[in-house]
Amino acid sequence: MSKRAHIIVVGNEKGGTGKSTVSMHLIVSLLGLGLSVGSIDIDARQATLTRYITNRRNRTDAAELGLLAPDHVAVPPTTHRAGDEARFSDTIIRMAQSHDAVVIDTPGSDHYLSRQAHSYADTLITPLNDSLIDLDVLALVDPATMHVTRPSHYAEMVWESKKQRAMRGEKGPFEWIVLRNRLSSLDARNKRDVERLLDELSKRIGFRVVPGLGERVIYRSLFLEGLTLLDLRQAAANIEFTMSHVAARQELRTLLEATGFLRLAAAEAVAASA
Ligand SMILES: Nc1ncnc2c1ncn2[C@@H]1O[C@H](COP(=O)(O)OP(=O)(O)O)[C@@H](O)[C@H]1O
Ligand SMILES: [Mg+2]
Repeated sequence: MSKRAHIIVVGNEKGGTGKSTVSMHLIVSLLGLGLSVGSIDIDARQATLTRYITNRRNRTDAAELGLLAPDHVAVPPTTHRAGDEARFSDTIIRMAQSHDAVVIDTPGSDHYLSRQAHSYADTLITPLNDSLIDLDVLALVDPATMHVTRPSHYAEMVWESKKQRAMRGEKGPFEWIVLRNRLSSLDARNKRDVERLLDELSKRIGFRVVPGLGERVIYRSLFLEGLTLLDLRQAAANIEFTMSHVAARQELRTLLEATGFLRLAAAEAVAASA
């Protein structure tokens, strides 16, 4: 396919790790950097990203606040696999041709559409809560030695998707980023264990670890409001902008830097002005 978009898949075989929240924040960040962004939601059951964007579009003050929204398509799976896969590839091909970036939010379970989505990723972002339970998604850890026994089912799925991607003739680099989400200052011991194991595992199965968003209650209300951290300054909404939100925006900025998306936006800007 002739594509110009950088395709970002947000995936993890586990619910509640922040995939949809991170997807939405990435989308609005990239839009804010002047990129044209497409987004796809293949999580039919929760459809969190779709609902998040709908909440945003439905705000009566959306225009007044100048809220940017992506070109969004929901591709919920039906019971007809071949039809679903065809619909998904049509969507991704169209979006890849017409946007700078495409963000795909996936369900927290193994599904053929999710596998297909993973095979299109230039960047795969896996948000992970900072706990040994969540680490289980990436690797099996021997509780006696506290060392990695072997990569898990999801890590194998990512490996398979990479092969699919190569077989389609995709030449560009693929990068897997594990994002430590909902970081809290509690439980330093657990945090150290996770850190060490992630480090051990990253070398073994090939990902990079970046810090994500801290644990903050605001994310839930942002979803209902259809807003992101980036909108709070202009939003006269009933959310008060506090120091905690300043810190949260800085986390988001760090995330954009660490994932290389700030550089991506700069490169697009150069290309557009050439
Ligand atoms: N950094 C965070 N701090 C606090 N709550 C969060 C954070 N990230 C996500 N959440 C909340 O956790 C829940 C699950 O997040 P969501 O993005 O829907 O996860 P997933 O898409 O992986 O299932 C939501 O209620 C969301 O508001
Ligand atoms: Mg979700």
